[in-house]
Amino acid sequence: MLGLCATIVKFSTAIMPNNVNTEGAWNYHEATKHSYTSVRTNPHFLDFDNQPLPFKIYPALEPSRMPTELGQTGVAALSAIAGSVPAQANAAPDLEAVAQLLYLSAGITRQRKYSGGEIYFRAAACTGALYEVELYLVCGDLANLPAGVYHFAPAEFGLRRLRAGDYRSVLVEATAGQPAIAHSPLTIICTCTYWRNAWKYQARTYRHFGWDNGTLLANLLAVATALGLPAKIVCGFADATVNGLLDVDSQREVAFSLVALGHDSGLSAQAAYRALANISPLGFETVPPSRNEIDYPLMREMHAASALDSAEEVAAWRGGTALGHTEPRTGVADSTPPAGPVVRLQPLSDSEMPRDPIEQVILRRGSSRQFARTPISLAQLSNMLDRATRGVPADFLDSLRSQLNHLYLIVHAVEGLDSGAYVFHRDRGVLECLKRGNFRDEAGYLGLEQQLPADAAVDIFFLADLRPILQRFGNRGYRSVQLEAGILGGKLYLAAYAQRLGATGLTFYDDDVIRFFSPHAEGKSAIFLVAVGHSVKRKT
Ligand SMILES: Cc1cc2nc3c(=O)[nH]c(=O)nc-3n(C[C@H](O)[C@H](O)[C@H](O)COP(=O)(O)O)c2cc1C
Repeated sequence: MLGLCATIVKFSTAIMPNNVNTEGAWNYHEATKHSYTSVRTNPHFLDFDNQPLPFKIYPALEPSRMPTELGQTGVAALSAIAGSVPAQANAAPDLEAVAQLLYLSAGITRQRKYSGGEIYFRAAACTGALYEVELYLVCGDLANLPAGVYHFAPAEFGLRRLRAGDYRSVLVEATAGQPAIAHSPLTIICTCTYWRNAWKYQARTYRHFGWDNGTLLANLLAVATALGLPAKIVCGFADATVNGLLDVDSQREVAFSLVALGHDSGLSAQAAYRALANISPLGFETVPPSRNEIDYPLMREMHAASALDSAEEVAAWRGGTALGHTEPRTGVADSTPPAGPVVRLQPLSDSEMPRDPIEQVILRRGSSRQFARTPISLAQLSNMLDRATRGVPADFLDSLRSQLNHLYLIVHAVEGLDSGAYVFHRDRGVLECLKRGNFRDEAGYLGLEQQLPADAAVDIFFLADLRPILQRFGNRGYRSVQLEAGILGGKLYLAAYAQRLGATGLTFYDDDVIRFFSPHAEGKSAIFLVAVGHSVKRKT
């Protein structure tokens, strides 16, 4: 603690940035834990008459439609989720590639009528099918798409142009010259809209921002790889500059992550890094999502506490110097060697692996609504863990070997693997057994007393030690760790469906999860949960 205080003084003798005072993230995390008691004492109910619209609508702006006849990459999903294109490979998307990226990450892939209306299901899983993540494009001139700032309109499968011209330098400035952004022909900005998700989930929605943005990014990264485009996720940016470029009402909607796509070595970071004249507000009318909105200040406080206010603060954040040290390397998730018995993963080789292409797998994905209690094979589990954790290109990770979340498993039905609790040692490719036994009832309880985690073949919990993460990244680390969990969870979804298995994201009783995996998990926090197995109604 003393060391922390001393380095804060070193960082700035003028104003201490909010982000460094990590009480913000700790308070939010603590206040939004689910427990047996909290879910029973919460009087919240769903007011269907006030349900938010599933889309952001700019009534005065006509969208230009994108092509719907999209080519197939044919790249196997299990390869696409595991790989990435080298950062320096020159490539730029054309309009068709943009359409593929948007459709397969945030497009409407299914719709279903119900008594209250219609649900428009999207390419990536999302808590409550509420789809609070909006996508915006900031690009230079691309083939068949002139330079501009655009909003993606999934209902029309079109783009609404918010600004004409090349505004990429604003992002270069906002990210303090982040090289991937400086060289990218296209950056996608993901924003999150509080009320659209908080209508159901109240203040816990801020965690969902990371999860739901993450599953979307898992798809986007896989499609980018299949299209031969380098991609980099960027969490370090000056919030107000990015929100200002989009002219979102930041009390309601906020930029959460950026994805730099493609690479143009001819772009000079220096040239792009020129300060633009003030970005003028757009003032476009948008349709209110509901009759009235309920505010959950806790989320906005969490967001403000994790804001980066200037390019200088972003540079310090990215360099890991804000807190005066680069150690411990928060990234290496399994630095502690196994102390218990281990089982080696047995992933299939590339030639043995199911080769269903990424676009087919994304289109048949859907969250399992019921699992059959039939076993999966150790090879299937191994493929999922191996392929989903080969690394995420993100500015909060030192390298593809780095990972903030640790994976803990409750195995119920895997051929060749005793039922029990395990921790995954990613670098060693082994599962360490923490305890043997049939824990279906416990898993059902931990997953908020739902049947899905009790019936699944395996429940994969994401746990993180928030202490070094927040120490290294400040409150912003909380955004990053939730986002990484969502990305890894999204990759697990795709790896399951690539093998004709099912998966679903789940919520959980925070402290009970830690108790279940302790003493090994002591000091960690529960971040996310994905259940996998054989779906009863399998999609084809
Ligand atoms: C982060 C996350 C958490 C979820 N939590 C639950 C859950 O607790 N219970 C549940 O039945 N479904 C859960 N789901 C599944 C969503 O309800 C589902 O993704 C959504 O209805 C969209 O449907 P689709 O995934 O079939 O496209 C979760 C999904 C995600 C991404």
